Amino acid sequence: MKEQKITTTYEVYPNLEALPAEARFLMQKAIAAREQAYAPYSKFKVGAAVALENGVIVIGSNQENAAYPTGLCAERVAVFSAGANHPGVTITQIAITAAASDYELSEPVTSCGACRQALLEYEHKQDSAIEIFFMGASGTVVKTKSVANLLPLNFNSSYL
Ligand code: THU
Repeated sequence: MKEQKITTTYEVYPNLEALPAEARFLMQKAIAAREQAYAPYSKFKVGAAVALENGVIVIGSNQENAAYPTGLCAERVAVFSAGANHPGVTITQIAITAAASDYELSEPVTSCGACRQALLEYEHKQDSAIEIFFMGASGTVVKTKSVANLLPLNFNSSYL
């Protein structure tokens, strides 16, 4: 038996203002998208903004349903919309922000496992990394240079 270690790398920015201009702009789009979330059950709103290489920004927000599992996370709404409306156009960056209605969410919230898997598919499809920025309603912003950093030992099309 041999023990293996996996490490990951991410960067932390002290606040939204500290982001490079392009990423800050993208996060502001995600914040605006977050306000449009349909989250009457969890009261936890999430916004995502996907930047394409041609300059287009595609947004998404979580969409809940009275039959709870039927709803969808903001990240998947955004990335599926990008895939459906801009097929073949490379995704360069994604900004994600979450806010709770009951308390001040002042730390970054990273994507759920299902969203990581969904985002990873696009990284493989386009054969280039996607930078991701995560933020709560306020506070620090976390950046990682690729979705793969968030999902080690992943399942992907190379097995099929
Ligand atoms: N949610 C997202 O939109 N993205 C995530 O990565 C985690 C959770 C949504 C789903 C649900 O509408 C609410 O947040 C609470 O789980």
